[in-house]
Amino acid sequence: MSEQAILRMEGIHKSFGATHALRGVDLSVIRGKVNAVVGSNGAGKSTLMKTLAGIYQPDEGHVYFEEEDITGLSPMQLQRMGIQVVHQVLNIVGSMTVLENILLANPPVSGGVLRWKQGAKTVREVLRRIDFPLELDLPVRSLSVSEQQFVILARALIHRPRLLVLDEPTARLGMEETQKLFGLIRRLKEQGTTLIYISHRLDEIYAISDRICVFRDGLHVISRDTEAFSEAELVQAMLGKKMDTFFPKADAPVGETLLSIEGLTLRGRLRGIDLTVRSGEIVSLVGAVGAGKTEILDCLFGSRKADGGTVRLRGTPVRGGYGIGRAIRNGFAMVPEDRALQGMLGDWSVKENLTSVEMKKASRGPVLNRGVENREAEKLVTLLDVRPHDIDYRMTGLSGGNQQKVVIGKWLTRDYPLYLMDEVTAGVDIQAKAAIYELMGRVVKRGGAVLLATGDIEEALGVSDRIMVLYKGRIVFEASPDSVTKARLLGYIMGGGASA
Ligand SMILES: Nc1ncnc2c1ncn2[C@@H]1O[C@H](COP(=O)(O)OP(=O)(O)OP(=O)(O)O)[C@@H](O)[C@H]1O
Ligand SMILES: [Mg+2]
Repeated sequence: MSEQAILRMEGIHKSFGATHALRGVDLSVIRGKVNAVVGSNGAGKSTLMKTLAGIYQPDEGHVYFEEEDITGLSPMQLQRMGIQVVHQVLNIVGSMTVLENILLANPPVSGGVLRWKQGAKTVREVLRRIDFPLELDLPVRSLSVSEQQFVILARALIHRPRLLVLDEPTARLGMEETQKLFGLIRRLKEQGTTLIYISHRLDEIYAISDRICVFRDGLHVISRDTEAFSEAELVQAMLGKKMDTFFPKADAPVGETLLSIEGLTLRGRLRGIDLTVRSGEIVSLVGAVGAGKTEILDCLFGSRKADGGTVRLRGTPVRGGYGIGRAIRNGFAMVPEDRALQGMLGDWSVKENLTSVEMKKASRGPVLNRGVENREAEKLVTLLDVRPHDIDYRMTGLSGGNQQKVVIGKWLTRDYPLYLMDEVTAGVDIQAKAAIYELMGRVVKRGGAVLLATGDIEEALGVSDRIMVLYKGRIVFEASPDSVTKARLLGYIMGGGASA
């Protein structure tokens, strides 16, 4: 083995039924570096990391860590050797506290006794080290998704791993948290930790990695130093073909006001939001996590009741706190932030998920209209390029990005006037992102509108007609993408414009 490699995988195969997810992966991971792993949704990235973590056993092939054959070891044994994997799907128990979630995976036992106090001390130290102070006795359920991500990160770090895998850690983080995470990654690297970093955001890959390993269709196709890999070459390696347009832009005429919000308040969260969205517009809400993006959407969608203010849809006031069914009748479609919790029926098939909103309508009486259901689902699976192309596949068997496509797809069975989208492209590959932007384009072209909350500043600049910056529950800045720089936006996002 080359001295540089801390980990080497050889000829790894893994199948799930008829799906051949890994088809003979050879991969070397370089010691002390940030090794980025990229590839389209379903390329096999997470499956490989679960194999590395001992959750899956490879059907064929071997894994070597520090020259030692570690194939077939259990998750516990691998953790003891210094391998920690932060998985794409967060493995947490909502009803348990921060402390319990961090410690119970690997309880602090010495001399047969549970050293809870000592454990708590270690956890506090780690949270301080990652600059993310959290109350240890809060139930994890009450935390935001980004806070939950840091809880899981802390759990991996108390073991001081030699190899740390982060599988799409920023899909749940805002810009500020992402910067925090990057600071942490750099510090870990200085201390000699080796990292594997998975993401679909190319700007992140270029900002943080030393080396990029590209996966396609269950194979590792090429690895190269980041500085020697141009973006065009990288995209071509990932897709097996060129891609020119990342942000297909729809030019739609701006018409009547579809949504108007006046003085929307939510105790401690929103402090008087005024906002209008007109037909033909894509309006982006950007801001740090906690700035109020999700809260605005929640109030609009009815999952939270505002304390004050009015919301009008085409001039008619709608009331908050009325539940999802009413919101749909009012003409809102919403793609929520945390698909695993809110948007997805994991044990159901792709078809059932796609048609869960609308199918009651297509059915006459109690019997579902199978023909309509199948046709609709087929159409959407093709449109969104869900892989595998199988409407009967169970949702839990899909890769993270393909799940996201289905969650979005279920709102496309009907033309809603207004789409509220929360971090809709998080975890989605570049090709599917472009497909989703095209769908937004179709919405505005037929006179609808999109209100998009996003932590991805490139996306906000690339797709929207107007960008609104939220800071601590207020809109502090509004701009059109062609009249503002990324740096200026960041200034408002981080500091509310105090220094801008
Ligand atoms: N438990 C499972 N049951 C059935 N199929 C599975 C299972 N886990 C993964 N697969 C399939 O294996 C393939 C690879 O999935 P994987 O999750 O590794 O992709 P990925 O590269 O991580 O994608 P993403 O970027 O969307 O997270 C996909 O076709 C997926 O549907
Ligand atoms: Mg994955």
